[in-house]
Amino acid sequence: MSLIPPVKAYFPEEDRQWITAQIEEMLSNGQLTLGKWGKAFEEEFAKLAGADHAVAVGSGTEAIEIPLRILDVAGKDVLVPTNTFFATAAAVIHAGGRPVFADSEPSDFALSLSSLEKQITPNTVGVILVHIAGIVSKRTEAIADWCRQKGLWLFEDAAHAHGSTLNGKHAGTFGVAGSFSFYPTKVMTSAEGGMIITNDQKIAEEAGLYRDQGKTSFLENTHGKLGYNWRLSEPHAVIGLAQVRRLKEINAKRAAIAKFYDEALGAGVPGGPLTVSKNQFSNYYKYVFLPGKVLDRKALKKKLKEKYGVCLAGEVYETPLHHQPVFQKWAGGAFPVAEDICARHICLPLFPSMTTEEARQVVASLKEALNG
Ligand SMILES: Cc1ncc(COP(=O)(O)O)c(C=O)c1O
Repeated sequence: MSLIPPVKAYFPEEDRQWITAQIEEMLSNGQLTLGKWGKAFEEEFAKLAGADHAVAVGSGTEAIEIPLRILDVAGKDVLVPTNTFFATAAAVIHAGGRPVFADSEPSDFALSLSSLEKQITPNTVGVILVHIAGIVSKRTEAIADWCRQKGLWLFEDAAHAHGSTLNGKHAGTFGVAGSFSFYPTKVMTSAEGGMIITNDQKIAEEAGLYRDQGKTSFLENTHGKLGYNWRLSEPHAVIGLAQVRRLKEINAKRAAIAKFYDEALGAGVPGGPLTVSKNQFSNYYKYVFLPGKVLDRKALKKKLKEKYGVCLAGEVYETPLHHQPVFQKWAGGAFPVAEDICARHICLPLFPSMTTEEARQVVASLKEALNG
């Protein structure tokens, strides 16, 4: 029985050949970091997102920490969702700040305004909004307005949201800056890598310094900031560039599978997917389905894999951060929605080269496994 994998990167033959040819050239000329490919990757990503500036870095984690250092969160509180990946909150701590967790809304798993109201402290300087599963929450503008009223900045961890929009506006452009991850399971990848986007020239310039050991210029050895080696290499950048150029195609293929799931799941499976409205474009980083009843997710995953050859994708997320051992010091508050959605949802396999036949097999297996 061949397995349907949870995710699969998309590199058509043509792209593999092109990338290989560029890497061959880099190896012969020795220009392996901070060169023309990194610049091209930044320019094309900024254009795609409709941002003035993009700064390529070594990972999505670094793309959060660098702006937080520039925003000077040291000793300050930053509101972050408890329903997010470890790195969102860890980056706050690495930049010297304190994460304060907030709950989510069940409709799209993203931050809840009423929870932000409850959790804000006199020491709060900003909010990190995460566009879970590639959906730019309908509350994004309202959260940005709330931040303005309170004198806070809004930063978007858009690690999931390449190409995703709300009212035609790209993820990462609603606040001071946004970050993206190019980890291999993301909708586009550079193997490892990350990108900061911003319309603020000062943030972009400082990010460029931070990523290269805080040096005041590439060719000088004066260190003006406490930077680090957060650079993206040229081979990574050229892989990322090939993927930016494919992103529209990748997202169209993902949307077609998601549409198939929406229709085929229909009334046959109790529960439903996260809804995406006409004014939202989701890249379907994850196809999230909330079953109508609480089920043993581990047992379901095992059964789907062993009996039907279907691998469910990883959750977003299985454990809210306030339950992670490392964050116990910062875990104050009640987060009932995050507790519920983290425990309950599943993510169906989805990747650009998935066939309709494979998607049909996923739905049929799920129906049988849940109803049988
Ligand atoms: C929401 C979120 N933020 C940050 C990251 C970190 O990205 P990276 O793995 O590229 O450092 C991820 C990666 O999985 C993520 O999902």
